[in-house]
Amino acid sequence: MKLALAADHGAFELKESIKKHLEEKGIEYEDFGCSSKESVDYPKFAYKAAKAVADSKCDLGILCCTTGLGMSMAANKVKGIRAAVCTNEMLAEMTRRHNNANVLCMGQSVVSMELANKLVDIFISTDFDGGRHERRVNQLTDIENGKDIG
Ligand code: RB5
Repeated sequence: MKLALAADHGAFELKESIKKHLEEKGIEYEDFGCSSKESVDYPKFAYKAAKAVADSKCDLGILCCTTGLGMSMAANKVKGIRAAVCTNEMLAEMTRRHNNANVLCMGQSVVSMELANKLVDIFISTDFDGGRHERRVNQLTDIENGKDIG
């Protein structure tokens, strides 16, 4: 398991805290920036990490910004990415089980560092349920590919 990590300045500290947590657990990751609290543009960092997931260079992504929202919007523009902003344990579990989300987004102003670590643990250890959810996730891909599913 290798994770792609990225944050903007609004969640630099959260990303560093998650890195420490992953190191303690011996989980491999690649840090796609940013590298300080200096102001940066979140789409560039979301794109780099999301692309690594979409290209199968990393298994799952963890993206953080002040709210989690900008990172999720940017990541979801990358083909093959299903990014979800999660604010509690249930969302982190269900977006893996039902949506086969491959990117977890969190906001430093929204979740505590402790809760963020819990959400990471749940997200990376929960499998996709498949079954009827597979059909629905395939429909997401159809939309992404410009298919009229109406
Ligand atoms: C940066 O000020 C802030 O806009 C960013 O971290 C993120 O929350 C955007 O959605």
